[in-house]
Amino acid sequence: MNKKKPWQGRFTKPTSTDVEAFTESVSFDWQLYKYDIEGSIAHATMLAKCALITNTERDKIIKGLREIQNDIESGDFVFKEHLEDVHMNIESALIERIGDAGKKLHTARSRNDQVALDMRLWMRDQIKILTKLLTSLQYELVLKGKANIKIIVPGFTHLQHAQPVLLAHYLLAYVEMFERDKSRLRDCLWLRLSESPLGACALAGTTLPIYPEFTANLLGFYRVCDNSVDAVSDRDFCIEFVFCLSMIAMHLSRLSEEWIMWSSQEFDFINIDDSYCTGSSIMPQKKNPDVLELIRGKCARVYGNLTTLLSLMKGLPLAYNRDMQEDKEAVFGAYDTVKRCLSLITGLVKNTRFKAEIFARACEDGFLDATALAEYLVLKGIPFRQAHEIVGSIVKNCIKTSRILPELGLDTLKKYSPVIDEDVYKVLGTENCIRSYKSPGSTAPKLVRKQINEWEKRLSKQGEKAKRSRG
Ligand code: ARG
Repeated sequence: MNKKKPWQGRFTKPTSTDVEAFTESVSFDWQLYKYDIEGSIAHATMLAKCALITNTERDKIIKGLREIQNDIESGDFVFKEHLEDVHMNIESALIERIGDAGKKLHTARSRNDQVALDMRLWMRDQIKILTKLLTSLQYELVLKGKANIKIIVPGFTHLQHAQPVLLAHYLLAYVEMFERDKSRLRDCLWLRLSESPLGACALAGTTLPIYPEFTANLLGFYRVCDNSVDAVSDRDFCIEFVFCLSMIAMHLSRLSEEWIMWSSQEFDFINIDDSYCTGSSIMPQKKNPDVLELIRGKCARVYGNLTTLLSLMKGLPLAYNRDMQEDKEAVFGAYDTVKRCLSLITGLVKNTRFKAEIFARACEDGFLDATALAEYLVLKGIPFRQAHEIVGSIVKNCIKTSRILPELGLDTLKKYSPVIDEDVYKVLGTENCIRSYKSPGSTAPKLVRKQINEWEKRLSKQGEKAKRSRG
């Protein structure tokens, strides 16, 4: 096989096959082919505009590149290891197909600015996909909240019963987290990914009269990077992207952990559909929440990749260093992992049933209405610290006598504080308690219902917008 390299000129010996196998990246960066071709088409268009190639050469290049794309997509293209990476594979195939015009494509370009561009273009697309997946997950959570709007759960702090909260409110807390995740991705997309590195070439720019703003514009970037050295050395955007993924993975692991507990015999709050659980090879009775456990577990992989990227870039001198080739597997791996977790958990949320009767029973325990009673006393003019103390003693007594607060008669209550009146029974008990919440963002049913409506509208608008921008 002719193993000629595009950079063969100054070499007198062929590359060792071990070195070829060690330095190649095409086994994983082939995934960038679509973006590499999109970038090359824009670059060739710019070269023709600047009269560095003729229009005929440009057209030949574009046609050749499109054919290569078709071949890749129909499985008729063989990526060669000795051509190192996706960039040299495509360029060599182009030259093979169209001859001399193909040799002009790499004018005023280096693989250094090319790979920085490809990664940015790739990331832009994946951010759109992630945003859509996050929106679908949010939507399922909102729908579950809406369908179970009457269910009250014991809200926990320190994993101890704390105050009553609507299940919908709990679910909407995750919707908020995923909205922040989307906004982080949006920042990444519109702020840091909006600059084109093309034109930086190897690191210093070029002596040729090129028009990088034109290429940037064709590719949908707002502007060209101001500093060519930074343009090819920067992988901040990769780290930032994987950080965004890590944050999503962390949120998913919290939801997973919670629902793993909620599905245990001890809690028994939810039933995850059989189709989203697995069994045991020895214990016939088992039904395990393995999907959630794996989502919780895969978070480690994503964090690992973030650490890989941070360590990879630590202490790297300017400008491009081959170390940076290691960015791809970390970025792709984190992305693939989070993408799969998002679609799995969305299906799981849809296929989970909340057990109203069990929640209701659980709400009887742990004096969830104690804080509301203290606040009742505050409204009757008792300083909060004193009210806290009074309710503390009432609870102490209830624990001793195995009673709950609404069971106490007015006479008993009055012994602890004479300001307590008949109207106390309007705040005692979880239902009453929930209805008494007033503050914005609280779990008051009226507010939660309003939030559900707003999220529904907001998410369907986002879904529509995503559909329009794709179509
Ligand atoms: N495969 C390389 C990477 O991913 C492309 C850039 C190579 N540049 C170079 N001068 N060797 O980083």
